[in-house]
Amino acid sequence: MQKSIEIKEKNSLSEKDFLEIYKIEKASFRHPWKEGMFFSPSQKFVLAFENKKIIGYICFSTVIDECHILNVAVSPRFREKGIAQKMFEFLFELGKKKNFNFYYLEVSENNLPAISLYKKLGFKTLGKRKKYYEDGSDAIVMVKQT
Ligand SMILES: CC(C)(COP(=O)(O)OP(=O)(O)OC[C@H]1O[C@@H](n2cnc3c(N)ncnc32)[C@H](O)[C@@H]1OP(=O)(O)O)[C@@H](O)C(=O)NCCC(=O)NCCS
Repeated sequence: MQKSIEIKEKNSLSEKDFLEIYKIEKASFRHPWKEGMFFSPSQKFVLAFENKKIIGYICFSTVIDECHILNVAVSPRFREKGIAQKMFEFLFELGKKKNFNFYYLEVSENNLPAISLYKKLGFKTLGKRKKYYEDGSDAIVMVKQT
């Protein structure tokens, strides 16, 4: 039985948060972010917790009314249970209070689960960045306008 999931916003990460996130990051990406990339002062987080342990995260930054989504992952054993969708719904509610009008992100053309997630959430394709990723794949740039 799935235990209760809590979603929270955080403006910076504690050491414990970072260690839990980094484990998910390394399990999720062939080219994980370098540790320091999680500590840029402009970055904020939406975190999903189960029993006070992080099981998913969205890392984002904001510029006036734009929200730039920089990183998203869910712990492998918690995938396909609606966690990413819950985190995005939380982010969109936050965005209503903070008057975000645009949400931007990049996703690899090969990442079909993520593309399907973003389409379901109302993101539309804006264009492509050729050979954006280290494996040579293109990035699809997506936007959701409120
Ligand atoms: C992409 C990712 C964040 C999705 O997280 P998740 O919690 O499993 O997603 P959810 O359960 O909330 O799924 C919501 C929707 O996303 C899509 N989706 C999620 N996983 C999918 C899969 N394996 N195949 C196809 N569609 C999928 C579906 O549209 C799904 O809606 P549905 O349940 O009605 O079919 C997760 O697979 C992940 O962490 N992947 C590795 C890291 C990554 O690729 N991050 C994105 C970088 S841009």
